[in-house]
Amino acid sequence: MKNEVLITSIIKNFNKKIRVSGDKSISIRCVLLASQAIGKSKIYNLLESEDVISALKCIKKLGINYKKNTNFYEIEGLGLEGYKTEGNIKLDAGNSGTLARLILGLLVNSKHKIKISGDKSLSKRDFSRVTEPLKEFGVRITSKKKMLPVEIAGSNFLRPIKYIEKLGSAQCKSTVMLAAIKTPGITKIKALKSRNHTELFFKNLKIPIKIVSNGKFDFIDIEGQYNYSGFTYKVPGDISSASFFLVLTLLSKNSKLLIKGVNINKSRLGIVKILNRMNANIILKNKKIYKGEAISDILVNSKKNLKAIKCPASFNSSAIDEFLVIFLVAAKAKGISTFKNLGELNKKESPRLEIGISFLKKIGIKVVRKGNDINIYGNPSLNLSGNYTVKNFKKDHRVFMMSCIAALTLGGNWKINDKDSVKTSFPEFFNIINQLGAKLY
Ligand code: S3P
Repeated sequence: MKNEVLITSIIKNFNKKIRVSGDKSISIRCVLLASQAIGKSKIYNLLESEDVISALKCIKKLGINYKKNTNFYEIEGLGLEGYKTEGNIKLDAGNSGTLARLILGLLVNSKHKIKISGDKSLSKRDFSRVTEPLKEFGVRITSKKKMLPVEIAGSNFLRPIKYIEKLGSAQCKSTVMLAAIKTPGITKIKALKSRNHTELFFKNLKIPIKIVSNGKFDFIDIEGQYNYSGFTYKVPGDISSASFFLVLTLLSKNSKLLIKGVNINKSRLGIVKILNRMNANIILKNKKIYKGEAISDILVNSKKNLKAIKCPASFNSSAIDEFLVIFLVAAKAKGISTFKNLGELNKKESPRLEIGISFLKKIGIKVVRKGNDINIYGNPSLNLSGNYTVKNFKKDHRVFMMSCIAALTLGGNWKINDKDSVKTSFPEFFNIINQLGAKLY
């Protein structure tokens, strides 16, 4: 079977209710934090994607048992000193930057050397952004030209650090937070705002953490060496997965969609804020709070008169994984949309800023780039009829799914390669898209 999809017709109007799979960031944090708890944790609705399976395989190699029950995973943590690290352990993080980086934080007290590697795409990404702060804790860590494979040998004499996180990266912040729980004394972090799932977990697990905010930065103090107990967690739906269907609905004709039970943590809500500023009418319904995380249903309707946005750079972190689909909406909106300071997009599973721009140009949209700022010249009457092939995108799952949404809303005959890439974050993508009536071959 060929690893590609063909799309030759736009989606017909639909009016449906769906649920998207569990949040990837929260699922990986659940696995890693449960592996260090004392006793059993029960995780419901864990995302069963390749990135999360890689996390389960990594903790297994470190001597942590888990089993899958009918509707939950049970993970048997052995506490902060519980990993078994002897025997030249090699961990494979697959495609997951979050896993590779966060687990390094948990290995700062490992008694033996551990090697972490990843797939082709992950092996091209920068790891110095986490290895440099980890060295400050007193850990020996080496990498290949700042990239994977990384070798880490933990220390018995960890010292707390002061760390400033300036990229708006939750992965960097969380890696240091996880190292801090292994370290005696108080680690102090000043971090540009980014997703705060790790902070909410720490609060729930009663790990000593203090957070003060000044709007732009969070000042986080963590007191280390507190052993916490196993926990129960029900993972909410992933807004990053939901975003493909928000845009599918928005750009389709006469359609309506209700997405149930999605995590709408403020630090992830950039997509909704940005689309609503572009004239969408996305409504959050039945809001509730679960273990500090905000959850709601999301209602979206098709919209004809979308308008351009001047997107403030302060929105970037809260929409970091959604810009590819946001660019699609800008392509259909009236006016020139501007986005600033998007350099971090090129540090993802593929260089998404480059790929996003060439995609827009391929479908006839004018884009002007100055450094990491771009202007997208929208065309509300954009309707495609040509033949389009999407390939060479480093198997980036989000490029694949965005391309499907473009094909299903803009017209044309499309061949999109590497359909297996959805398994990284959203194996249910095809089931849901079929449920909405899309025709993919
Ligand atoms: C993630 C943080 C973001 C995001 C990634 C998941 C996390 O990366 O792009 O998909 O779970 O902490 P950065 O921290 O590199 O921005």
